[in-house]
Amino acid sequence: MDRLKISGGNPLKGTVQISGAKNAALPCLAASLLATSDISLVNLPAVEDIRIMISVLKSLGCEVSTKESEDKLELTATISTGNLGKCELIAPYELVKKMRASILVLGPLLARFGMASVSLPGGCAIGSRPVNLHLSALEQMGATISIDGGYVQATVPNKELQGIDHTFEKVSVGATEHLLMTACLARGTTILRNAAMEPEIGDLARMLQKMGAEITGIDSPILTINGLSELGGCQHTVISDRIEAGTFMCALAIAGGDIVLERVEPENLRPLIEVLKLSGCKIDETNGSNKQLRISRDPDKTLTARDVVTAPYPGFPTDLQAQVMAVMTQANGTSIIKENIFENRFQHAMELERLGANLKLDGRLAYVSGPTPLSGCTVMATDLRASAALVIAGLVAKGEVFVDRIYHLDRGYAGIERKLQSLGANVHRVKGGRV
Ligand code: EPZ
Repeated sequence: MDRLKISGGNPLKGTVQISGAKNAALPCLAASLLATSDISLVNLPAVEDIRIMISVLKSLGCEVSTKESEDKLELTATISTGNLGKCELIAPYELVKKMRASILVLGPLLARFGMASVSLPGGCAIGSRPVNLHLSALEQMGATISIDGGYVQATVPNKELQGIDHTFEKVSVGATEHLLMTACLARGTTILRNAAMEPEIGDLARMLQKMGAEITGIDSPILTINGLSELGGCQHTVISDRIEAGTFMCALAIAGGDIVLERVEPENLRPLIEVLKLSGCKIDETNGSNKQLRISRDPDKTLTARDVVTAPYPGFPTDLQAQVMAVMTQANGTSIIKENIFENRFQHAMELERLGANLKLDGRLAYVSGPTPLSGCTVMATDLRASAALVIAGLVAKGEVFVDRIYHLDRGYAGIERKLQSLGANVHRVKGGRV
């Protein structure tokens, strides 16, 4: 298995292009199942999760052609659903277990064909990740759902899903995306209340509108969808990845230096911008056509510890919690980090401790005291964002840090080591490194 070798101590300098958002691209790919003509998706990040979702669409009978950018960091995909429904509508366990967002194909298949069988995704390192909110809302729309052999077996008895007035019992990004896209082909009007408002949901809604969907309340907690009998194709460019951008901002915050992020949406990064500014970074935004964000920090000036509480958007994103924890190991004072979204999202803490960090965990609270010098050793990535946190810590560790199991990293970051190298970091991929 590949591993990353990082030698710390270099401040970062230069410009980095932020890729398209994995978490916008995945629901957009699933939503292409709703279209009776071709969908073209641009600015997809060339990462494993996207490749798996494309495999899921192909396993359902879609024709998907992809074009890779010269730098191999971006994909364009054209999806044709002409042959959909001519083979069994099964999303297999082998694919779904690797990429849980595959569950999003269930609703569109039910809406178009009245039946589907999708493997239950199962849990992952950061939590049990149930899908009860998805399934109960689909049942309220008229689906009959049973769990059999680890698969969700679903049918729509009278072939048509009905619009519902539904209040989610808890804010869920995936459940909001799932019901939003499914409601576009239901009979009548659907109102989704207590809906998630992450920017990736707004991006999905705007793509659905290009396909002809009638949606109001976008970027608000109440979405109203008037169901239609058919949706057409479209071309859509997915939004910039705010989590990748935030990851590079945390890399700068810990290493010091001066970098410019290109193709970034500062509006989607407000909570992190606030924390890093108050902690001692200088951040300037240029909101022209080519959105940029410049962040700098004098490497000789120590950061100040800040508290962080994760929450649904527009709160501090849980997907940046691990990265900011790595930063706070080098800040003056104690940072209290509260993880409110997932029950087990501190796996990176134990690995940061191996590097020398001074952390104390108490349930959903992490107390991070700094600045503590970090020293190189081998650490293990446990999930996508935890691995990013270990890379960030490696940028300031004395000696060499080896990050194992970086297949986690490859799920959501296109060419992260190349991008960091271009900013002056001493990071290299070791092919087939020790297990
Ligand atoms: C999305 O996951 C993201 N993934 C996650 O990013 C992100 O951490 C999460 O939203 C929260 O922002 C994608 O978009 C592909 P949720 P999702 O449903 O939709 C509970 C990354 O690193 N819940 O908003 O699965 C759930 O257990 C990934 O890119 C239920 O109880 O998250 C969690 O505690 C990691 N029942 C909370 O809700 C359900 O049916 C929020 O989960 C669904 C969720």
